[in-house]
Amino acid sequence: MSKSIILSIETSCDETAASVIKDGTEILSNEVVTQMMTHKKFGGVVPEVASRQHVEVMTYVIDEALKNANMTMDDIDAVAVTEGPGLIGALLVGVASAKALAFSYNKPLIPVHHIAGHIYANHLVKPLSFPLMALIVSGGHTELIYMKNHLDFEIIGETRDDAVGEAYDKVARTIGLSYPGGPEVDRLAHIGQDTLKFPRVWLEKGSYDFSFSGLKSAVINTLHNKKQKNEAIIKEDVATSFQNSVVEVLVGKTIAAVQEYDVDQLIVAGGVAANKGLRAALESETERLNINLSIPPLNLCTDNAAMIGSVAHFLYEEGRFADMKLNGKSSIDIENL
Ligand code: KG4
Ligand code: ZN
Repeated sequence: MSKSIILSIETSCDETAASVIKDGTEILSNEVVTQMMTHKKFGGVVPEVASRQHVEVMTYVIDEALKNANMTMDDIDAVAVTEGPGLIGALLVGVASAKALAFSYNKPLIPVHHIAGHIYANHLVKPLSFPLMALIVSGGHTELIYMKNHLDFEIIGETRDDAVGEAYDKVARTIGLSYPGGPEVDRLAHIGQDTLKFPRVWLEKGSYDFSFSGLKSAVINTLHNKKQKNEAIIKEDVATSFQNSVVEVLVGKTIAAVQEYDVDQLIVAGGVAANKGLRAALESETERLNINLSIPPLNLCTDNAAMIGSVAHFLYEEGRFADMKLNGKSSIDIENL
């Protein structure tokens, strides 16, 4: 296995991040500047505002990553960057910065798929063990991905409409919580009771796809009806009822996939992996069934550049470099990288 010291950059959404990673596993530095407080005012991420803020802090974040790793560009073997998927204007800031660094210091340039990054966040905690199943749950994605080996991704299920984090944020808004509402709904869910009995959307038998828009509408309609009848809305109960529906389906499908594909390891990744209800349900089910479960710590669940550097190490070993024509892409197929 070759050695590598990689400077990685991530700007796909609302975090400006840079990191220095050794051999795909060791975090030498991991800097993240979040724009969350800015977007809170608007109730969601405003793409144009995100791009501008990335421009403002990008060079600072890269400098900090090098400084905290005690490195200069001379020590770096390659520059990696999130190519997509994500907000195009936001991605372009990272891609342009990575290209400028790679060009001026004559280093290889490595484009990385953002979701591959979320999966490889786990490799920074303990080595990935194949075959594995990865449940990706974030603000933009809900996917079950099967991996036979490094860099080999097969999507076996995905959302047909909203991503789970998106559903959390929308439900949060309907009960008057501010963006991003996911963590707050999670907190309330532990206080309330499952009184509203929202639907569980399983889709066709045997399908590993997800759908959350029906559940979201059920929440909105229920609240609307209650308001019309002048009935009290107990936010905590809405949160518990919603979370129970989401967690039951996510865990049910994930465990079924793990069993059908007979994998060595189950990995959970993305911002919603921080959800306490989801974590607890997955922990108890995997313990009961003796399944090897890996969930990264919170700072590696949400967007960061360390995870991009981890994937980049394996691409570096295979010499999968890009030239100066590299561009950001709002969507990229992970199965045909
Ligand atoms: O992975 P991430 O940081 O950004 C994307 O790439 O999308 O995920 C952000 C999403 C947001 O929708 C946020 O509400 C949700 O993750 N989230 C949570 C929790 N913490 C963050 N959702 C439910 N429960 C949580 N504890
Ligand atoms: Zn993400």
